[in-house]
Amino acid sequence: MKLLELNNVSIDYKTIEGNIRAVDKICLSIEDGEILGLVGESGCGKTTLIKSIIGLLPQNGTVAEGEIFFENENLLKLTKDEMRKKRWKDISMITQSAMNSLNPVYKISWQIVEAIQAHKEISKEDAYKRAEELFELVGLEKGRLNDYPHQYSGGMKQRAIIAMALALNPKIIIADEPTTALDVIVQSQILERINKLLENYQGSMILVTHDMSVIAQTCTKVAVMYGGKIVEYGEVNQVFKEPNHPYTMGLKNAFPSLVGEKNDLISIPGIPPNLLNEIKGCRFKDRCPFSIEKCSQENPKKTNIEEGFFYCHREEEREKLRVLASKQETWLQENIKE
Ligand SMILES: Nc1ncnc2c1ncn2[C@@H]1O[C@H](COP(=O)(O)OP(=O)(O)OP(=O)(O)O)[C@@H](O)[C@H]1O
Ligand SMILES: [Mg+2]
Repeated sequence: MKLLELNNVSIDYKTIEGNIRAVDKICLSIEDGEILGLVGESGCGKTTLIKSIIGLLPQNGTVAEGEIFFENENLLKLTKDEMRKKRWKDISMITQSAMNSLNPVYKISWQIVEAIQAHKEISKEDAYKRAEELFELVGLEKGRLNDYPHQYSGGMKQRAIIAMALALNPKIIIADEPTTALDVIVQSQILERINKLLENYQGSMILVTHDMSVIAQTCTKVAVMYGGKIVEYGEVNQVFKEPNHPYTMGLKNAFPSLVGEKNDLISIPGIPPNLLNEIKGCRFKDRCPFSIEKCSQENPKKTNIEEGFFYCHREEEREKLRVLASKQETWLQENIKE
């Protein structure tokens, strides 16, 4: 069953310089038990998109159009109170700077027990037991529950936050770079544990990350964002093996391969478009080695493929482009026409 469905969602920020369309007409869905990776470079709108789901956009941000259905109910129609009830219990979020959200004046145990009791009829003793269980799950010693946040390292704080997010077995966890502050070994341990836990009760997750290897290791589906749009979506294995959008092809080159031979890493020259300006045609055109006249004139149409989709004018030539995209010279600035 579809758990979460985003229908044509656009999000604007009002600024003194003008309107920024940070997310533009995004359609996306996630099923029970699915782990969706959301990837894309800084500023492409990942945090904006997921904050809209949980109703936590900053004051100058609004959902300008679209619908966000959670279990067939439009979240955008809920009152603040109704939304607050869903947070933690049904939808929980680990924010990008989560470790700063612990309250410095209370013991960690108090903060977790309080969060559990706020959403569930449960005794203090049982909530404390649950907190101990969760600590074990994220690899923290039970004894540390009675510390204050300042007694924790950054990584420990982050783990405590992850424990809190998991406390009520939410139907979906929305995690914004949840393990960025942790070293790679602990990162993969924690992601594995979260995965196992979700598997046990068919929970879902949206995992935002810059790191393609985290996606490859953790997710079933991946959505690639660029300049406020999802340019490609599909099964992780398919998207990484045979990317269809030139931006995904470029992203793949920029990360070391986990399997197979070692390749030189190739970066994508240039910077993402300024979202203050209206953008005509494809958003990736200025950095795309394969852009043609049409890319500046018209928005690319959606091409549906098995279990996924992508947007590119040169969709029929994608096999040829994939071969070209794996070569270093293709991505040299002088070979990219403005
Ligand atoms: N409160 C705000 N007011 C105005 N513009 C904003 C605000 N928050 C974000 N933006 C703009 O919206 C766009 C998307 O930002 P967002 O934080 O969603 O990106 P992101 O993909 O999460 O980036 P990162 O990977 O760096 O976290 C950017 O152009 C950013 O400058
Ligand atoms: Mg972000």
